[in-house]
Amino acid sequence: MAETISTAATAPPIANPGAAAPKVTVRQLHKVYGPRAAAHVALAGIDLTVRQGEFLVLLGPSGCGKTTLLRCIAGLEQPDLGEIEIDGDPVFAAKRRLYVPPEKRHLSMVFQSYALWPHMRVANNIAYPLRNRGIAASLIAERVNNVLRLVGLEALAKNYPGELSGGQQQRVALARAIVGEPGLILFDEPLSNLDARVRDHLRVQLLALQKSLAFAALYVTHDQAEAMALADRVVVMNQGNIAQIGTPTELYHRPNSRFVAAFLGNPNEIEGSVIGIEGPYHRVRTRIGDVFATGDRATLQTGTAVTILFRPEQCGLVAEERAGPNRFAARLVRSQFLGGSVEQVVEAGGYSLIVRTTSGWANEPGARLWLVIPPDHVFAFAGGAAT
Ligand SMILES: Nc1ncnc2c1ncn2[C@@H]1O[C@H](COP(=O)(O)OP(=O)(O)OP(=O)(O)O)[C@@H](O)[C@H]1O
Ligand SMILES: [Mg+2]
Repeated sequence: MAETISTAATAPPIANPGAAAPKVTVRQLHKVYGPRAAAHVALAGIDLTVRQGEFLVLLGPSGCGKTTLLRCIAGLEQPDLGEIEIDGDPVFAAKRRLYVPPEKRHLSMVFQSYALWPHMRVANNIAYPLRNRGIAASLIAERVNNVLRLVGLEALAKNYPGELSGGQQQRVALARAIVGEPGLILFDEPLSNLDARVRDHLRVQLLALQKSLAFAALYVTHDQAEAMALADRVVVMNQGNIAQIGTPTELYHRPNSRFVAAFLGNPNEIEGSVIGIEGPYHRVRTRIGDVFATGDRATLQTGTAVTILFRPEQCGLVAEERAGPNRFAARLVRSQFLGGSVEQVVEAGGYSLIVRTTSGWANEPGARLWLVIPPDHVFAFAGGAAT
């Protein structure tokens, strides 16, 4: 793609976003769809804060309530219970029957489907949110030109959306979202209709734009790599609840539940039972041998049935037997070259386990190897294997 989004700042970045008053506060938000007999709880009591200038990503499986939460904040959906504040001002309060309509919430939205007016030229699509606001035509033109430059679409101002690629159309939608200089932009999977290269490119540029313009972004995705790449903090949702909130590294290295661990990184799973605590680790008896794992001291005691999880990229394979914790006999089933990495499937204790390494592997299927899993990268959670 030839166009690039300019990162020239039009507003100073906020030095310490965490210190500012919250941009959005959500308290005990409930949303139920359908008649009482067939009620479906889409949001089951969400508490959430979006900080000023923060990039907050909502991540979770299909149907977990991400779009519903975004639409409630936008005012497109009325929750059943709870409160929402934007810049400290209530925009929804169930108890007081307070509901502020979307156009008065001073935010904008970017959708997966771009939602551009097909009969309007690019410049007019972008100008649309500024119309009927009593802004002089010359000022509108100046602002539109400004954002066209920011998203690198000056040359296409007079085109119609149908004449643009998907990536270009999404840039128009982005330009339209920022033209009114909102302090908050809500994104619902804006990049998921684009092919992988365009998506990666636009992702980097969206982040640069968000940081330089310093708006708060609440961004929905079910793509964990996208969440990791964009977020200051990630909110992992599951069935209308928040499973965990944290920075990408916190969630990746310290998942608080099996759901979060399993959602971030497609880990290997092995069932076992805690047989003791040794130093900082739980010793878990499994069919591949005794595995040292990290787990919650308060809940995982000797005798607890657990599942241990470890990610393909956080274990390795070696040919020689050596002493040390978490080394298990394994047999290579197959190797697959993936370009930047090699994915190897090994069999150990009756389990089929995936190991991903960055360098090639010369062994033939059937080779006897040793699977090495650093104990800090093995998580133990109560309960048996996923059903
Ligand atoms: N208008 C509606 N009427 C009835 N049920 C709805 C409605 N909108 C959403 N739901 C249900 O509420 C739940 C949450 O839906 P939501 O669209 O928020 O999920 P999501 O996390 O955005 O999923 P996806 O990743 O597939 O977009 C789903 O089970 C969905 O079927
Ligand atoms: Mg959705």
